[in-house]
Amino acid sequence: MKESKWWKKAVIYQIYPKSFQDSNGDGIGDLRGIVQRLDYLEDLGIDAIWLSPVYRSPQDDNGYDISNYQDIDPMFGDIGDMENLIREAGKRNIKIIMDLVLNHSSDEHPWFCEAKKSRENPYHDYYVWRDGEEGTPPNDMRASFGGSAWEWVPELKQYYFHQFSVKQPDLNWDNPKVRQEIYQMIQWWIDKGVGGFRLDVIDQIAKEPDQKITANGPRLHEYIREMSSAVFQKGDLITVGEAWGANTENAKLYSNPDGSEFSMVFQFEHICLDQQEGKEKWDLAPLPFIKLKEVLNRWQTELDGCGWNSLFWDNHDLPRIVSRWGNDREYRVESAKMFAVLLHGMQGTPYVYQGEELGMTNVRYSIDEYRDIEILNMYRERREQGYPEDDIMNSIYAKGRDNARTPMQWDKSENAGFSAGTPWIRVNPNYREINAADEVHDPDSVFTCYKTLIRLRKKYPVFVEGHFALIQPENEIFFAYSRESDDEKMYVICNFFGQKAEWKPEEDQNGTKLLYCNYKASGETDCYRPYEARIYYMKK
Ligand code: GLC
Ligand code: CA
Repeated sequence: MKESKWWKKAVIYQIYPKSFQDSNGDGIGDLRGIVQRLDYLEDLGIDAIWLSPVYRSPQDDNGYDISNYQDIDPMFGDIGDMENLIREAGKRNIKIIMDLVLNHSSDEHPWFCEAKKSRENPYHDYYVWRDGEEGTPPNDMRASFGGSAWEWVPELKQYYFHQFSVKQPDLNWDNPKVRQEIYQMIQWWIDKGVGGFRLDVIDQIAKEPDQKITANGPRLHEYIREMSSAVFQKGDLITVGEAWGANTENAKLYSNPDGSEFSMVFQFEHICLDQQEGKEKWDLAPLPFIKLKEVLNRWQTELDGCGWNSLFWDNHDLPRIVSRWGNDREYRVESAKMFAVLLHGMQGTPYVYQGEELGMTNVRYSIDEYRDIEILNMYRERREQGYPEDDIMNSIYAKGRDNARTPMQWDKSENAGFSAGTPWIRVNPNYREINAADEVHDPDSVFTCYKTLIRLRKKYPVFVEGHFALIQPENEIFFAYSRESDDEKMYVICNFFGQKAEWKPEEDQNGTKLLYCNYKASGETDCYRPYEARIYYMKK
């Protein structure tokens, strides 16, 4: 058997700290809160926590705007709490993966405060500046959260470049000093004992704004390789690059098995299918099911042996999968489990986003109850452009990032056991029906399904190593595939929709046994109930 990296067998759990567990009643989740819930995560069986940013930050974009990379924001605790989290997680064999936001800093970072003092300041060149005239930005590039990507600084008679909000100025990676400072900071976290890093919008660091290039700039892989050899390759770390602009070709660079860049790439091709082509995520379109299979199949087969996939449906930027492509009403439990089976059977490292393992759902709030800068900016912009209110709200219900950011639903008590105070964002009103306390002991819960799948992955090597083959690509109802290694084979067969349907196997599944089914009562051999998902297994 080939030497296998630990992170290939691992399951990663993402925590959005602001919404996970509040320990002191201020309505905001914090590091001590996470420690209180480590036993729950150990029971689930995960190997590592990807922790969304907890660094010091003005919280313009919930911590993705960092003003000190080597300190903890007081609302989350302090550096002692962080060290304690690393230690306590370590006792349970759980590693901590820090979220590195390296494309930009906060405008309140000391580097930027210095940089805008004068053109001669040693930190000036840490950011991306262009001369210009007030009111006439260097070009028409737009920022991800709305408005121009250029912000005028009158004292300098210059614009600075920001791909995200005005409070997130882009760092200048062409400056070697910037890169060295970043590597030293990363080393400092490695020395603290973290198990790896998630690299925020890493495909956008090598921007060339004069040519309007943001993702996949010409020097991108040069910078990544430099960073990797300067810091990542020195330890047995997991590194995952977030890359909205990745394709299977450059993903083979990002996740090259020679270890020259990252362990794996977190890409979004499958997750961007339900939007109108060439438009924004808010411009909704139905999910093209056959296309979804084609895309996932391509990633599965093309990276096999020459790269590595991250497997996910949800994260803090995405709506809840059960509401998005499943059915969060009469088949909530069945469809949530079906998505779990479909994903955990594939080749790659699965990610579970907090609450996904409970089948948590999207929300429909009034506009003043949303907190996300992206939602609020879009709402304002589209109102000004004359979009009907209903259309805007429907886009927010479907795609708004706050769907994933409502507090964890721990139990039936007030505020779902998340906080004794007033939560920073409203709790999903369905917490009395959907919560961890009910699910952990229920053998038929979504939680138990995730727990079971995580154990199966550890027990059967075919989950990690098996080659993927899509079965019946044109089938309009079933998402089915096989995984095969030298001595094992398994079939994952999922009815993707809410009607029962007949499955006509082409291959001889004789000799296989049913390893998992998302329904309690056994069904008919080739008739699948709504959202029914089964895994068949055999030793060859
Ligand atoms: C990434 C993060 C997102 C953040 C953005 C800017 O996409 O996941 O939450 O707003 O980068 O840092
Ligand atoms: Ca708190």
